[in-house]
Amino acid sequence: MPPRSSTLWLATAFTAAALACAGCASHPPPRPLQADVIVVGAGIAGLAAALQAADGGARVVVVDSNSVGGGHAMLASGFSLVGTPLQQKLGYHDDVERAVRDILAWGGDADPYWVRRYVEDSRHEVYDWLVDRGVEFAMILPNPEDSVPRFHLPRGAAARAVLPMLRGALGSPQIAFLWNHEVTGVLRGAAGITGVTVRDSRSGHQLRVDAPAVVIATGGFESNDALVREHWPGDRAVPEPLYVGSGQFATGSGLQLAVGAGATLERMDRQLVYVTGMPNPRDPAHRRGLLVLNPAAIMVDAQGRRFVNEAAPSKDIESLLLSRPQASHWLVFDEGSRAQLMIRGGPWLDRKAMEADIMANPALVSRADDIAALAVAAGLPPDALAATLDRYNGFVSAGRDADFQRFGQGTAGPPPPALKVPPFYAIKLSPMTRKSMGGIAIDHDAHALGAGGQPVRGLYAAGEATGVAGINGSHGGSGTFLGPSLLLGRIAGRTAAAEAVPLRRPDVGGAVDLPLRAPADRDPVPPEALGPRLAQEQPGFWHFTQVHRLVMERQQACASCHDATWPPGPAVTREQQLTQLASCTRCH
Ligand SMILES: Cc1cc2nc3c(=O)[nH]c(=O)nc-3n(C[C@H](O)[C@H](O)[C@H](O)COP(=O)(O)OP(=O)(O)OC[C@H]3O[C@@H](n4cnc5c(N)ncnc54)[C@H](O)[C@@H]3O)c2cc1C
Ligand code: HEC
Ligand code: HEC
Repeated sequence: MPPRSSTLWLATAFTAAALACAGCASHPPPRPLQADVIVVGAGIAGLAAALQAADGGARVVVVDSNSVGGGHAMLASGFSLVGTPLQQKLGYHDDVERAVRDILAWGGDADPYWVRRYVEDSRHEVYDWLVDRGVEFAMILPNPEDSVPRFHLPRGAAARAVLPMLRGALGSPQIAFLWNHEVTGVLRGAAGITGVTVRDSRSGHQLRVDAPAVVIATGGFESNDALVREHWPGDRAVPEPLYVGSGQFATGSGLQLAVGAGATLERMDRQLVYVTGMPNPRDPAHRRGLLVLNPAAIMVDAQGRRFVNEAAPSKDIESLLLSRPQASHWLVFDEGSRAQLMIRGGPWLDRKAMEADIMANPALVSRADDIAALAVAAGLPPDALAATLDRYNGFVSAGRDADFQRFGQGTAGPPPPALKVPPFYAIKLSPMTRKSMGGIAIDHDAHALGAGGQPVRGLYAAGEATGVAGINGSHGGSGTFLGPSLLLGRIAGRTAAAEAVPLRRPDVGGAVDLPLRAPADRDPVPPEALGPRLAQEQPGFWHFTQVHRLVMERQQACASCHDATWPPGPAVTREQQLTQLASCTRCH
C-alpha cells in the first residue's frame, strides 16, 4: 500500500481539479496540495520539465491557466536541430561549429554558452528524445539563416511533437495537472521557495500548492501590450498599428511571479516583431494579427514605391521597416500569383474560410481590374503605383532587378513572374508581436538568478519565459524557440528534482499509482444546449469556446470527438483526458 500522505496527495489534487467544474462550486476549499516540484505552464517547456522531474523521482503538479496543454507549440511548425539522422539521410552535412557560427551570425548578440550547448545537445536531448516518444520528423526546410537546411518539421507541424509529451505526462502517476488554474504568487520562506498560490479561473477558488521547487515555464509576454511597449527595442517609437501575434495566455505573468520571488529579468527589449501582419477579422477587438506572405508579390510604401528586396532575409526587412516612422506597407500582387498567398494564424483559416473572411473583405483586401483603380481602393497614389508596376515588370522581362537586386546579378533561381494578370490585389500590412527573446535570468542549470547573480533557492525557469536564454540574440531564427524551450525544460526539471526530492519528508512516499477519482458525474451536455453556452464568454472557457464555435460552424456531430468514455462534458479523469487528445489534430 502506498504511504498515506502520498495517497492523500493525489486524491486531493484531483478533488481540486474536479472543483474546476461549475457544478462542484459548493465544495469546501481543498487543503494545500503537496508536491516535490511545481511546474507553472504546460507548454513544451513545462511538459519537458514535468516529465524530466518525474524521471528524477519527483512528484509533480503542473498548473496551467488554459483548459488544455501544449501552449504555443500547438500553433507552431518546426524545430532547428543539428546533426540529426534525417539530415544525414537527406545528404545535408551539418556540424556543431557550422551551426554555432550560423546562429551567432544571425542573432547578432546571442549568448555563446547557450548557443553552443543547444547545438551540441539538440540531437540527443531534443531529436532523439522526441523520436523515442514516437514523434516522426518528416522533412527539413531551408532557411536564410542556416547555411545548411536544419528546420525540422514533424509530420503535421509542432502539435505532433508536443501531444506525445502531453500523453506521456497524463500517463505518469507522478504528474498531476490543474487546468484552468492560474498561479498568482510564488511563496518564499527563509530557506527558499515553499510553494505557490493558485486561482481556479472558473470558480474563483484560491488554493495553495506546497513544494520546495517551482519551475516557471509560462512562456513569453508578447500578448501583453503594456509590457511590449515598456520594453520596445531601442529608442524607436512603437509603430501604429501594432497587432498581437502570440497566444491568449502569453501575458508575461510568470515574469512578475519570478520577480516577486526575488529573480531578475534580462534582455527584455529583445522582441521578435514581424512586419507582415493583418488584423484578424474574427477578433472583435481588432487587436490580434494574422501573418501574411506571398513570395511572388512586391512590397510598396505609402508613396506607392518599392523600398526593399522583397526576398531579403526577414530580419533585414524587419530592421528596415521598424526603423522607419511608418512601418505599414502594402503587399501588391496579381491573379496569377494569388495562389501563392499564405495567411497564417487561425487554424480555422482553411482556403474556403480565407476566401470568405479575407479575400472578399474590402476592409482587408483591395481588389481591382487595373492598377489605377487598385491604388484608389487601397489609398495609394495611382500614378506612382502604376509606374512602380511598370518598372518592376520591365525588370522581370530583363531578368535583372536594377533597383533592389531581388533577381539577376548572381542571385539564385529565375525571376518571379511579372504582375500583370487582372484582377490586382493590395493588402495593407503592419507590425505584429510574436516571440520574446528576453525574460528571467538563469544560470547553466536553469536556476533563476537574483539581483546579485545568485540562484534564488528553489526557483527555476525554462522556455520562452527566459527568452530561451539568449540563444536568439536580437533576431529570432526559425525553429530556435521550440527546441531550446524543450532543452531548457529538461534541464530545469532535472535540476529541480535533484534538489527537491532529497528534501522530501521521510514519512511521505514517492510515486503512487492510485486510480484517480472522478468528481460526481455531470450530465452530458446535449447538442442544442451548446449554442446558448457559447453565447456567453465565461472565464476559464476560452479554449472550449474556440473549439465549439468551429464545431457549430462546421456542423460537426458531437460523437465525432466525444465518445462513451468522454461524453460531451469536461474531461476529468486521466482516461477522459487521454481520449480528448485524439481530437486535437482535427484543428491543430
Ligand atoms: C503562431 C506561432 C508560431 C510559432 N512557430 C514557431 C516555430 O515554427 N518554431 C519555433 O521554434 N518556435 C515557434 N514559435 C515560438 C514557440 O512556439 C514558443 O517559443 C514555445 O512554444 C514556447 O514554449 P513555452 O513552453 O516556453 O511557453 P508557452 O508555449 O507559451 O506555454 C506557457 C504556458 O504557461 C501557461 N501560463 C502562463 N501564465 C501562467 C500562470 N500564471 N499560471 C499558470 N499557467 C500559466 C500558458 O497558459 C501556457 O500554456 C511560434 C510562436 C507562435 C505564437
Ligand atoms: C475544433 C478545433 C479545435 C480543436 C479540436 C482543438 N483546438 Fe486548440 N485551438 C483552437 C483554436 C481556434 C484556437 C485559437 C487559436 C488562435 O488564437 O490562433 C486554439 C488554441 C489552442 C491553444 C492555445 C495556443 C496559444 O498559446 O494561444 C492550445 C494550447 C490548444 N489550442 C490546445 C489544444 C489541445 C491540447 C487540443 C486537444 C485536446 C485542442 N487544442 C483541440 C481550435 C481547436
Ligand atoms: C472537433 C472535436 C469536437 C467536437 C465535434 C465536439 N467537441 Fe466538445 N470538446 C472538444 C474538446 C477538444 C474539448 C475540450 C475543450 C477545452 O477544455 O478546452 C471539448 C469539451 C466539451 C465540453 C466540456 C466543457 C467544460 O466544461 O470544460 C462540453 C460540454 C462539450 N465539449 C460539448 C460538446 C457538444 C454538445 C458537442 C456537439 C454539439 C461537442 N462538444 C462537439 C472537442 C469537440
